[in-house]
Amino acid sequence: MYTKKITESIKKELENLKVQGKFKVERELEGAQGPEVEIGGKKYLMFASNNYLGLANSPEIVKSAKDAVEKYGFGLSSVRFISGTETLHKELEKKLSHFLGTEDTILYSTNFMSNLGFFASFTNEAFGGDGSHIDAIYSDELNHASIIDAFKLCKKENTQKRIYPHGDVSALEKMLEEDKDKNYRFKIIVTDGVFSMEGYLADLPKIKELADKHEALLFVDDAHAVGVLGKTGAGTGEHFGLQGQIDIISGTFGKALGGAVGGYVAGRADIVEFLRQKSRTYLFSNSIPPSVVVASMKALDLLNEKPELLIKVKENAKYFRDGVKKLGFEVLEGEHPIVPVMLGDAGLTQEFSKKLFEHGLYVMGLWFPVVPEGKARLRFQISAGHTIEQIDQALSTLSLVGKEMGILK
Ligand SMILES: Cc1ncc(COP(=O)(O)O)c(C=O)c1O
Repeated sequence: MYTKKITESIKKELENLKVQGKFKVERELEGAQGPEVEIGGKKYLMFASNNYLGLANSPEIVKSAKDAVEKYGFGLSSVRFISGTETLHKELEKKLSHFLGTEDTILYSTNFMSNLGFFASFTNEAFGGDGSHIDAIYSDELNHASIIDAFKLCKKENTQKRIYPHGDVSALEKMLEEDKDKNYRFKIIVTDGVFSMEGYLADLPKIKELADKHEALLFVDDAHAVGVLGKTGAGTGEHFGLQGQIDIISGTFGKALGGAVGGYVAGRADIVEFLRQKSRTYLFSNSIPPSVVVASMKALDLLNEKPELLIKVKENAKYFRDGVKKLGFEVLEGEHPIVPVMLGDAGLTQEFSKKLFEHGLYVMGLWFPVVPEGKARLRFQISAGHTIEQIDQALSTLSLVGKEMGILK
């Protein structure tokens, strides 16, 4: 029965969110995702989507999805191992393995699911033992929510979790040294390849060195890097010259690669086969619809056929970053198209992002507790789809509001 106690508890919780500045309001787009979107009949420049290559509404991708619906229908009404595997799923898995330089790949409905699936099955499985093992996981404190939640599925008695301060490889090294003589079954180091609040990259060369020294598996969630970083867009591994050397990569089709939905784990063939047999978020959740599979393959083809997209997103990001600095704002340095403009104060940032929106610029404001106190920021996300004119427009709106609010002279 839906009691008064339940409704009052929910009300209290929602009110708390408002007081804490955590209550989210969803703005409703009225057409496709792109460099320009429509909301309430008005056009806005979009600088708050993960559409890094501008492929979300690419005519080629839309056509391939349409053709696939015609040929394969809408959905499969099944999980993969019952009747939900088309040759297409296998093709996408092979294509992705080839692209990322891994032995094999397994698709999941989302990257959230792939992260849950890996950690839960890997750490909880006895692997022929008596189940009394303990695995050690070393995780960056700012890893994505799906990794944090994945740990909740790892049985307490089988897992030792150690969280190191964000980006602090010395702290990670110290932990691994401390644990050197402990009798852990597996050690796993897990990090995001790119951290979405700052656009910072994990120090993969150093982390990989530590993983090798301490015989730890290296798991990289490359959601914001695949399709963005590296010469061919294969992600942080390729960026650092470590392609083919990361044990496990997880990622998404929901950002640079067309922006629909779908996740994966790519890595050693035996790990992938193990996940196919054992991971519950794979086994007991529907397979990706054929149109999304075909369109995601098209996204990989386009990335290969149009290397200028990768160049463009980098150039656009640099152009924007330089422009923001020239205006006199503080910006986090980096090479990723996530460009945080630092304002510091939470109230100021809320007001600033509201005014930008009123001036037709859609950008995400982030403040405590999403980012540390005093480090509130506007997070711009740049796309290959943006024209220089659109970036200039964003810069002049920033300048205008900056002056209006007394931040710029
Ligand atoms: C680092 C990281 N991992 C995983 C995810 C989840 O991806 P998906 O939307 O495919 O579940 C995201 C998306 O926000 C992400 O940024």
